[in-house]
Amino acid sequence: MNAFRVGLIGLGTVGQGVLRVLQRNAGEIAGRAGRRIVVTHAAMRDPARLRDCDLSGVQLGTDPMAVVNAEVDAVVELIGGISPARELVLAALQRGKPVVTANKALLAEHGNEIVESAGRNGAQLAYEAAVGGGIPIIKALREGLAGNSIDSLAGIINGTCNYILTQMTAKGQSFADALADAQKLGYAEADPTFDVEGIDAAHKLTILAAIAFGMPLRFEAVATEGISAVTAQDIQLAQELGYRIKSLGIAKRNSLGVELRVHPTLVPAGHLLAKTDGALNAIRVHGNAVGQTAYVGRGAGGDATASAVVADLVDVARLQGADPRHFVPYLGFRAEALRDKRALTFAEIESAYYLRLRVADEPGVLRAITSILAELDISIEAILQKEPREHEDATLAIITSQIPEHRCNGALEKMLQLPFVRPGASRLRVEHFE
Ligand code: HSE
Repeated sequence: MNAFRVGLIGLGTVGQGVLRVLQRNAGEIAGRAGRRIVVTHAAMRDPARLRDCDLSGVQLGTDPMAVVNAEVDAVVELIGGISPARELVLAALQRGKPVVTANKALLAEHGNEIVESAGRNGAQLAYEAAVGGGIPIIKALREGLAGNSIDSLAGIINGTCNYILTQMTAKGQSFADALADAQKLGYAEADPTFDVEGIDAAHKLTILAAIAFGMPLRFEAVATEGISAVTAQDIQLAQELGYRIKSLGIAKRNSLGVELRVHPTLVPAGHLLAKTDGALNAIRVHGNAVGQTAYVGRGAGGDATASAVVADLVDVARLQGADPRHFVPYLGFRAEALRDKRALTFAEIESAYYLRLRVADEPGVLRAITSILAELDISIEAILQKEPREHEDATLAIITSQIPEHRCNGALEKMLQLPFVRPGASRLRVEHFE
């Protein structure tokens, strides 16, 4: 059988990884796909840059549209960003060519249009590498868990945030130093605010929620908070209370709709997600038949992400020429079965909360604060007071019971009006995964 010819757009970290993995594991990949998979065309922005892979036999150029138009059996888009990636992907699909992409931003923000085009043109669309790097989470949700109604998922889906929070926890590094290290190690996006403000994770959560719940891609519905306001003191206090702070993407269903949220979260220290450190990603999925499942691995990096791209290429090569009705539906559910769901705002969710307050060292302070909580029917699960150092204020950390967020915000506002409570309190959500 003829080799399956791949056109690669983008020869950065992941593109080079794809070439390396296809070459290194050529025999086993051919054994799985039923034919050899080879990159025949590639486009890169700067051909002068040294590449850490063997490019012999690859027709190189700088024009990505030339790759779309070349005699290739599939187009792999690895340039990231919205434009020109969107135009290139749509052009390939219009020509009926299968597309493999790692582009989470493109799928989250324009995925409905792309899925519609793939369906109209009967072209395959695969995107395992868009979420969790090398972790086969898309395959798990779309196929492995297809017998379940998935009620929730939660994960560490941004390695940069996880690296930063891990370094701040283990080494007491500042946020800025840890971010600089993450960038040096190649984890961060071109614009690191995408990582630290939770946008990259929101892109990934949009994709996970769509295929878990059978809904269209709704990036604008994700409630997002970044990690830049988390302080070393919060990390320390959380540890003393038995928690780790992680940036999580959380998707849950309830009777009102869906909760889609990304935010720094206190996680019990013994939980798998609390123990997933460094740049690793981990995703926990709960299905009503299987119960809890978990997936851990490298969420970024050349070869790890290439592992997912190549797995997609194996699927795409196997299905070449097949009737599109036999494809795994692009979003897990057939287009006619997708149902939009109401997404709750932060104010509408319920959670347990961590509150950190700086208070004057005076009698009656604790009583006034706990009275506010009692008046609003908020139960205290844990409380910690740090002794003030000389001439300094005391610090109070409280974990509340599960309450509506608007009630927690109301309590915090009242506390901040007390004369002995200083400005600059912290309020973080706590997740117990019960
Ligand atoms: N910037 C991303 C992360 C890379 O830190 O996880 C992989 O999507």
